[in-house]
Amino acid sequence: MIIKAIKDRKSVRTYVPETIVSDEQLKELLEAAMLAPSACNSRPWEFIVIQKRDKLDKIMTIHSHTQMLKTANCAILVCADLNLQSGISEGFFPQDCGAVTQNILLQATELGLGTCWCGIYPKEDKVKAFRSLFELPGNIVPFCVIAVGVPAEEIGSRGFYEAGKVKWVK
Ligand SMILES: Cc1cc2nc3c(=O)[nH]c(=O)nc-3n(C[C@H](O)[C@H](O)[C@H](O)COP(=O)(O)O)c2cc1C
Repeated sequence: MIIKAIKDRKSVRTYVPETIVSDEQLKELLEAAMLAPSACNSRPWEFIVIQKRDKLDKIMTIHSHTQMLKTANCAILVCADLNLQSGISEGFFPQDCGAVTQNILLQATELGLGTCWCGIYPKEDKVKAFRSLFELPGNIVPFCVIAVGVPAEEIGSRGFYEAGKVKWVK
């Protein structure tokens, strides 16, 4: 049930350090990602699966809010490919990559994995630092990095329904 994954998903910032997320699990997350909707079906995304400890350590030095990578053994860098959007789909990549990212978080929850979405775009300094670390060409925009691992903490829900934020037009 999708609502269970939505309710169970939380940003996890402590993982069981000795556990490895398998390539099969990561492929399941990427498959869920690529089923996301996108403007004009432009599918303007690209992914870098990071399993190297030295790269994870480097990320923590260029993005101060990624310290959960100390205990996570992998991360997914979600990128946009600007060359894949033009005409009426142009400029929609943040929404497309946001949909992709949420799909990854929900599928990870379904698999019993924890995640944390760490924003990169539109912070220019971070975009530049990730471009340099992963040698990305100018058309590739690093959008966010998602820590993935086995949760080592129990977290209560931070989300809640706010009736005051809804206007009903009937
Ligand atoms: C666009 C975006 C950027 C975020 N960036 C970070 C980040 O850099 N580091 C971090 O620890 N959490 C980050 N988060 C996670 C939020 O802090 C988290 O979603 C929020 O506090 C609600 O908690 P929950 O995810 O457990 O419901 C980000 C979330 C979003 C949607």
